[in-house]
Amino acid sequence: AKLLVLHGPNLNLLGTREPSVYGAITLPEINQDLELRARATGHELSYLQSNAEHELIERIHAARNEDVNFILINPAAFTHTSVALRDALLAVNIPFIEVHLSNVHKREPFRHHSYFSDVAVGVICGLGASGYRLALDAALEQLAAS
Ligand code: DQA
Repeated sequence: AKLLVLHGPNLNLLGTREPSVYGAITLPEINQDLELRARATGHELSYLQSNAEHELIERIHAARNEDVNFILINPAAFTHTSVALRDALLAVNIPFIEVHLSNVHKREPFRHHSYFSDVAVGVICGLGASGYRLALDAALEQLAAS
C-alpha cells in the first residue's frame, strides 16, 4: 500500500523546539523510522513537512492522483485553525489518523479542539514519537482488513 505522512508547521524544529513538551527526537529520525518500518513490510511511504497550509493542501490533492491509501497527519497548530485542511482531507476521501506528540488535552484550552478528530479514523496524542509508529501499525492493520 501507499502511505503519506504529513507534518504541519514548526515540526521541522523538533529536537530543539520545547523539548520538555515534544521530546528530543528530530523529524528526520521520525520519518526514517516510519519509512524503514513501512518498507520492511512491503509498503511505500512518503512524507512532507510544511509550514505553509497551501503546500499541505496541494500535497493532499496530489495524494489522490497517486492512489495513496492512507494518510498519517500531525497538523500541528493547523489542528486548531484549519477548516481548509480538513476540507482537503474530506475532498480526497483518503482515510487518515491524526497524531500529536503532546497530550493536547492537558495543555491550553485552545488546543482541546481539533478540526480533524471527528473525521479521522483515529487520534493518537501524548505518546511522543511512538504515536507515529502506533499510527503506522494501525493504518497497516486497517488496510489489511479492507
Ligand atoms: C502538536 C500539538 C499542537 O497543539 C501544536 O500546535 C503543535 C504540535 C503536537 O504534536 O503535540 O505544533 O500537534
